[in-house]
Amino acid sequence: MNQARLVVEGVGKSFPGVQALSGVSFSVSGGSVHALCGENGAGKSTLLKVLAGVHRPDTGSMALDGKKIDPRSPLEALACGVAVIYQELHLVPEVTVAENVMLGHLPYRFGMVDQAALRQEAMKALEQVGLQVDPSTKLKELSLAQRQMVEIAKALSRDAQVIAFDEPTSSLTSREVESLFALIRRLQEAGKAILYVSHRMDEVTTLCDACTVLRDGQHVTTWHDMAGVTADTIVNAMVGRSIQDVYGYSPRTIGEPVLVAEKVSGHGLRYPASLEVKSGEIVGLFGLVGAGRTELLKAIYAGSGGSVQVGSIKLGSRDPRSSVGAGVVFCPEDRKKEGIIPQMSVAENANLSVRRRFSHFGLLDQAKEKQNAEEYVAKLRVKTASLQTPIKNLSGGNQQKVVLARWLAEEVKVILLDEPTRGIDVGAKSEIYAIIRGLAEQGVGVLMVSSELPEVIGVCDRVLVMCDGRITGEVARADATETTLLQLALPKTEMSA
Ligand SMILES: Nc1ncnc2c1ncn2[C@@H]1O[C@H](COP(=O)(O)OP(=O)(O)OP(=O)(O)O)[C@@H](O)[C@H]1O
Ligand SMILES: [Mg+2]
Repeated sequence: MNQARLVVEGVGKSFPGVQALSGVSFSVSGGSVHALCGENGAGKSTLLKVLAGVHRPDTGSMALDGKKIDPRSPLEALACGVAVIYQELHLVPEVTVAENVMLGHLPYRFGMVDQAALRQEAMKALEQVGLQVDPSTKLKELSLAQRQMVEIAKALSRDAQVIAFDEPTSSLTSREVESLFALIRRLQEAGKAILYVSHRMDEVTTLCDACTVLRDGQHVTTWHDMAGVTADTIVNAMVGRSIQDVYGYSPRTIGEPVLVAEKVSGHGLRYPASLEVKSGEIVGLFGLVGAGRTELLKAIYAGSGGSVQVGSIKLGSRDPRSSVGAGVVFCPEDRKKEGIIPQMSVAENANLSVRRRFSHFGLLDQAKEKQNAEEYVAKLRVKTASLQTPIKNLSGGNQQKVVLARWLAEEVKVILLDEPTRGIDVGAKSEIYAIIRGLAEQGVGVLMVSSELPEVIGVCDRVLVMCDGRITGEVARADATETTLLQLALPKTEMSA
């Protein structure tokens, strides 16, 4: 084992009504990619924010290479050699890439920003991460993956020794994930201490060579050697029980078509698409990020071309109001952006019924809705101090659960789900699958976008695969394997390469 570089000793942090971290101790070696795992609300992001100087710890201390660090702000943390790459990136969209990289230590000459030096320093940092963009480009012109690279470049320009990533791959394409992993491996070879938070066990087991598990703000275990540590071992430590069958699939009676979409078109779809979902059927829509899956859901729900029939009703105009009226709901992928009112409570957010929003009568049964919210908060194990807590205080995954509850509680004929378990821990995932199965058993038709192969294979009766803006194939459950699905999902050029 390499030498410990980052040492976390007895760190505790509480928020009103929540002990987010208590007495957490572990160390991260140089040249190691150290996973930080735990259920939603376990305290992972809080720990990174303590490291980054966003939160001050109530107890405990941290040291880097034997020297105590106690940052009061992210800039101070960076000056101590600690950089945290958040999922919501913290860069300034209106200024240039170069200025973002050098934020907080712009080179000055005669009292003015030295533009030549700025450009040169920034180029050097961008080169280290392998990002080929002109440093004078405005940040807002870049893709999310490129912005993430800019964050990392910024960390490297300050010679960061500890680099912590909070769910960095959740919105990246598979190729972007590969280049991020390649970069992380280079940082590892350079002897940096790397912390890596992710809910994707396949990433943890392939990328990481050490792992710390948190549960309810407490340290459960640290493996400094991953020999013999499997995804199951980690999950058991996370949830404190063994999860036997996450997917819990059982065959269902499948009825008549409830959703028939013919030649629907819309933004991002290269070709008009046709599909059918039957009553009681769970249909997966698999593909790589960017394949056009979200666009297809949107084209069904609120698109222009082609036709959509729900049960025996042909939708005249397709807009959210008519679709909801006909019994179709769409749960978007970016639930945080599209679904949350941050200042409002957990209960209020869970009660923001889509149906009510479009209802002329406005008098859906309030008591029932509240009961629904409570039920789902319990079922999905939303970790919250109370139902009255503002939703913005919840961990990322718990916010996701609350918003998802709103859609899953709807009485509908067809539900369109976009990446329903992204950012959600394994324990809650199995609850979500159970709820989806329950909907199907009541005769609802489910169309579910997912990028996770095991999920698609485990949950769906049938899988449609998309690549480059069109449906490339359909695979029955019995034939759905990683190979068959990937073959249809990968662009032809990549397959032959
Ligand atoms: N600013 C805050 N105010 C109040 N409570 C907070 C705040 N930030 C975090 N918490 C609480 O602290 C606990 C730990 O949250 P944290 O965000 O660290 O979880 P996490 O492990 O990152 O979860 P996830 O996997 O869902 O991202 C949660 O119960 C959360 O509600
Ligand atoms: Mg988090």
